Amino acid sequence: MIRTVSATVSLQQLTDQLECLEAEAAATIAAAADAAALEDLRVGLLGKKGRLSGVLGAMGRLPGEERPLVGQRANVLKEQVQRLLSERLEALRSAAMAERLERERLDVTAACSYVPPGHRHPLQSTIEEIVDIFAGLGYRVSEGPEIETDHYNFTALNIPEHHPARDMQDTFYLGGDRLLRTHTSPVQIRHLEANPPPVRVIAPGRVYRRDAVDATHSPVFHQVEVLALDEGLDFSHLRGTVTTFLQRFFGDLPVRFRASYFPFTEPSAEVDVQWRGRWLEVMGCGMVDPAVLEGLGIDPERWSGFAAGLGVERFCMVRHGIDDIRRLYSSDLRFLEQF
Ligand code: DAH
Repeated sequence: MIRTVSATVSLQQLTDQLECLEAEAAATIAAAADAAALEDLRVGLLGKKGRLSGVLGAMGRLPGEERPLVGQRANVLKEQVQRLLSERLEALRSAAMAERLERERLDVTAACSYVPPGHRHPLQSTIEEIVDIFAGLGYRVSEGPEIETDHYNFTALNIPEHHPARDMQDTFYLGGDRLLRTHTSPVQIRHLEANPPPVRVIAPGRVYRRDAVDATHSPVFHQVEVLALDEGLDFSHLRGTVTTFLQRFFGDLPVRFRASYFPFTEPSAEVDVQWRGRWLEVMGCGMVDPAVLEGLGIDPERWSGFAAGLGVERFCMVRHGIDDIRRLYSSDLRFLEQF
């Protein structure tokens, strides 16, 4: 037996319900926190067993002529809810995107913390290359102070006061007998004072002269000093060592020795290398003067040796085809980055 439930409904009640439903839908959709919550709301409101279906089900109990009124109202509501749902979804999406853009914000104008990796200055790498070659020939590195005394810079090197050789090496005098060394040769004296022969050392370092700056002169520049002192060393050892060094540095080029004069060597020579068709003077050298050894209390009858001094800037400029010494001190990155 079928029991019919025949509760009565009025048009007014159903339209009120639809009105309520609309207001509630608007409020809950506006408060939905994410897409999943919106989907739950959609099912609850418009789904087969949703609230709207409930109202439409009751519509069947209205008199026939009233039903279309409720049906139209329900359709309007349905469209309205669908529009609110998709607007809210869109709003949530763009809020999420805005939040993400804010969180992942890149300020392309922000002060940069990038520190470019530096590299060796060409003068420094030239010094290292020279040191490496001599290290391969059995030489150790010895160093001395840039602030020297008159004694080490001149007198002990057989350059007494009033000697004309002093004029060629005018320097900066610091008061008393202190001065900025004009060459690395004083390291010969300091090394021999502290180390009895046999010695084989090179001394790289900065030196100073009272020269005006131009394309080939700088009041500060670099030298590498070479000193070998042993029993039985003669000019052939000097020649062999210097030639070997120059050919390792420049390649297998012609090398020539020209007689010259330095107060601390006898005999003395200047050395030229044939570089791109012309002779280039690259260093001074000679056999250590017996007077220098005597000043140190070293017996020149037993010990003999040779010394040489070379200008690092010259080696660096020739090697890299640099035409102006000032570039080496300019700190101009456009220049330095090439090495
Ligand atoms: N000290 C010299 C100069 O600055 C260079 C030099 C020449 C050094 C001959 C030496 C040497 O050791 O034997 O002009």
